[in-house]
Amino acid sequence: MDSEKNFLVTGGCGFIGSNFVRYMLENYQHCSVTNLDKLTYAGNPDNLRDLEKDTRYSFIKGDICDPEIVNKAMENIDIAVHFAAESHVDRSISRKGKLVKFTISAQEMRERIYRSLKRYWSYSERINL
Ligand SMILES: NC(=O)c1ccc[n+]([C@@H]2O[C@H](COP(=O)([O-])OP(=O)(O)OC[C@H]3O[C@@H](n4cnc5c(N)ncnc54)[C@H](O)[C@@H]3O)[C@@H](O)[C@H]2O)c1
Repeated sequence: MDSEKNFLVTGGCGFIGSNFVRYMLENYQHCSVTNLDKLTYAGNPDNLRDLEKDTRYSFIKGDICDPEIVNKAMENIDIAVHFAAESHVDRSISRKGKLVKFTISAQEMRERIYRSLKRYWSYSERINL
């Protein structure tokens, strides 16, 4: 893999996301990772506390359902990896409305990220990056 890429990881303070962020920074010296996480009940910033001094790592506290934040976070991103989720099964039963809203918004966000990357890629091709 070409490691000189800027990654956006959503939900990077969760279980899978934090392991992914750590794996990428440990194994690919030239990549950078922006972590966009709302820090819900499931997000734990301590999972990545030790990486805060790493200049290749940055954290944005925000909601993937917020178009403004997602657009800003997408600047200069090559690859987006999406882990943000309402993942606890018991909560998905007790708070159905919230889960449905999140799922719809998250789908819109995925499409937005896809469109942003498409724009970035076609721009990169035009200027031969
Ligand atoms: N844990 C597993 O064993 C496992 C296995 C297979 C697939 N998955 C999938 O991987 C994904 C992540 O799972 P996980 O176990 O790491 O979940 P997790 O609950 O540990 O982490 C979810 C993260 O998403 C963040 N988040 C939630 N809503 C957000 C929002 N609106 N905006 C921004 N951030 C938000 C939370 O703060 C948290 O940091 C899920 O889609 C899950 O289904 C998990």
